[in-house]
Amino acid sequence: MSQNKTNDLIAAYAAKRPESLKWYARAQETLAGGVGHDLRHFVPVPLYITHGRGGRKWDVDGNEYIDFLMGNGSLILGHADDEITEAIREAAADGTHFGNDHPRHIEWAELVQKIVPSAERVRFVNSGTEATHLALRLARAFTGRTKILRFEGHFHGWHDGVIHGFQPPFDADGSLGVPAHIRGDHVTIPDGNLDLVDITLNKQSDIAAAILEPSGASWGRVPISTEFLQGLRNITRRHGVLLIFDEIVTGFRFAPGGAQQLHDVTPDLSCFAKILAGGLPGGAVVGIAEVMKLFDLTGDPHHDRHQRVTHQGTFNGSPLSAAAGIVALNRIASGQPIETANAVTVYLREQWDAVLEKHGIAGYVYGPSSTFHIYFETDVEQIKNASRRSDLHTTDAGRLKGMPGSLIQHYQRLLRHHGVDNMSSTGGVLSAAHTHEDIDEATVAFEKTVVALRDEGLIATIDG
Ligand SMILES: Cc1ncc(COP(=O)(O)O)c(C=O)c1O
Repeated sequence: MSQNKTNDLIAAYAAKRPESLKWYARAQETLAGGVGHDLRHFVPVPLYITHGRGGRKWDVDGNEYIDFLMGNGSLILGHADDEITEAIREAAADGTHFGNDHPRHIEWAELVQKIVPSAERVRFVNSGTEATHLALRLARAFTGRTKILRFEGHFHGWHDGVIHGFQPPFDADGSLGVPAHIRGDHVTIPDGNLDLVDITLNKQSDIAAAILEPSGASWGRVPISTEFLQGLRNITRRHGVLLIFDEIVTGFRFAPGGAQQLHDVTPDLSCFAKILAGGLPGGAVVGIAEVMKLFDLTGDPHHDRHQRVTHQGTFNGSPLSAAAGIVALNRIASGQPIETANAVTVYLREQWDAVLEKHGIAGYVYGPSSTFHIYFETDVEQIKNASRRSDLHTTDAGRLKGMPGSLIQHYQRLLRHHGVDNMSSTGGVLSAAHTHEDIDEATVAFEKTVVALRDEGLIATIDG
């Protein structure tokens, strides 16, 4: 890669963002780490967004972006949807928070129950991280076992119990500050191999639950098969191990009832967030009544103190999140937003793959539902042995998650420079508000990005 070209791009990018640079200077004096989420780090300057509408958003310098981050996947109806905004306004006028339950809370739960196949009971929390945290507690309480089976590369939020094992190298610690003994509570294996699951569960009798992203790791960056999900359902049932679907991205996106509906596999427990709350903070654990009754109080002092799962949370089921969630779920239940988002994403994947084809780039575009991922092959041997781009297709987590960091950073910077923001790595999510015009413009940005990467030697062509 030419360092000069990278420096030129960084300088040009910064030159268009004088106000952003000022905000960044302030942020570095106040925000720990300079940003609010690890994925918001960006060289030379993070994004500072003022507003969004539909499939687009604008930064403090007036730069416009076609948005494929969409509130980290929360906004399947698009930015600033009128009906959601109005519902929030109406709810806020009634009082933003009571600390009591309220009618919107129940209505929201009823909708989840109606839409999600496994949702016999619903318990709201405030984020996806809280949802997986609570689901693991429930599973341990129900089975009386300690360990959790999880799969390499699958992300389940940032709490201590799931932070290891999602980023390569998978056997390294996920973060400083997590007590060493917590690793011992996890058994982490690659996904896709049912025999290995069976062998692992035969060997380890102390496993309470298996948890996974039913899209495959990182919302489908590493694809997974329906057969694996179905097989996992059968094996876990046979071993008395609870099956937990982390539907935090897939929920209300892959189908109204999530990946469990799409694949016709019913987990014991599932975790939701993001779309669930219509673009506001919120999460939920849902599941079979037999497990969810662990929250019940019976009036027996011994039971109520020692034989149930405790769970508090000031903002659980908050009125504003409920109001936005009700609008979102009512619309999603019709199937229309998902159909629209899926159709526009098919268009994106076709257009972007055509760009790779036109330039003979060693890579391909893929992704389920309203998501997309780009894989650029950088292994010289793989490229040499491939006579066409389709020969590069893989489900190997090491390859799909192992693209060089420098390539990904440069890809993201070029894309943003040309007016497109994606979600993480080389992937993004769409909404029902994205239009073909958005995709046509984004395709021009993608082509400029790919051509620059090729010219700088960061990606290769299939014929060398
Ligand atoms: C699959 C999955 N699980 C859990 C989480 C954590 O959710 P939150 O960021 O709301 O804590 C995320 C967040 O992106 C996710 O993608």
